[in-house]
Amino acid sequence: MGAGIAQVAARAGFDVVMRDVADEFLARGMAAIDKSLQRDVDKDRLSTDDKDAIIARIKTTTDIGALGNAFIVVEAATEDLPIKIEIFRSLDQLTKPGAILASNTSSISITKLGAATRRPDKVIGMHFMNPVPVMKLVELIRGAATSDATYETTRALAEKLGKMPLECQDSPGFISNRILLPMINEAIYALYEGVATRESIDGIMKLGMNHPMGPLALADFIGLDVCLAIMNVLYDGFNDSKYRPCPLLKRYVDAGWLGKKTGRGFYEY
Ligand code: 3HC
Repeated sequence: MGAGIAQVAARAGFDVVMRDVADEFLARGMAAIDKSLQRDVDKDRLSTDDKDAIIARIKTTTDIGALGNAFIVVEAATEDLPIKIEIFRSLDQLTKPGAILASNTSSISITKLGAATRRPDKVIGMHFMNPVPVMKLVELIRGAATSDATYETTRALAEKLGKMPLECQDSPGFISNRILLPMINEAIYALYEGVATRESIDGIMKLGMNHPMGPLALADFIGLDVCLAIMNVLYDGFNDSKYRPCPLLKRYVDAGWLGKKTGRGFYEY
């Protein structure tokens, strides 16, 4: 998702520094950006020159220090609280005092990330949806200490990126994943209990509910490890058994069948 966020920011005219922990991940991200922009070139919605200019606005690096001059950093690391806390601590040390520190987290507490910094008023959730270049929504999450000024700046930025920002408070899963993930988890339970095949479950939701993808295909698209992490955040956050992750989801994650990104999930790729 980091690559998608870099892409929409560069397309909106911003200079972007895309930082990852290894060159191979940066190369994969740039390849995804190239492929995504090429779709628009092929459809005559973008000139080759403009595509090249967008790509030229994105600098890649493995050095977190290269983010020092940013006016906003959007973190999109693995859904793991200790990793994110460590990143927010580092960003707080190395960025300018006025810089906004945003997280693309799918469910981790913005309040906790803010508390790891000396600027919790400048920490906010900026939750993009996959695929980032296509989906209109950016869910903006206010942590306990997020200031109105931070919210307004981030809202204006999301609009400049061509997105529709919608606001919610910091609560497990926010709005998007509090509603989406229990539906996906329930679809996995239906498969686990043998109520229907994967094709039936997905077909019923696509044809009957007009969802663009069935819930099992969507789970593969999101990543089953991410789905499990979000269910665990809901389960722990609300202490309510209705959010217990399906054993089949746990088993697939244990097996390394994480969906599209590993070639196997509920479907084969
Ligand atoms: N980059 C740029 N454009 C892309 C793209 C990409 N990566 N992927 C698809 N597109 C464009 C295509 O070019 C096409 O554009 P056009 O209609 O203007 O010509 C359009 O999107 C539709 O693509 P396709 O025809 O190839 O395929 P589909 O019609 O099946 O659409 C989809 C693909 C947009 C992924 C659609 O299936 C969809 O909307 N799926 C649901 C996605 C969803 O629910 N996302 C949210 C996931 S939850 C999340 O992200 C939160 C996280 O915290 C878990």
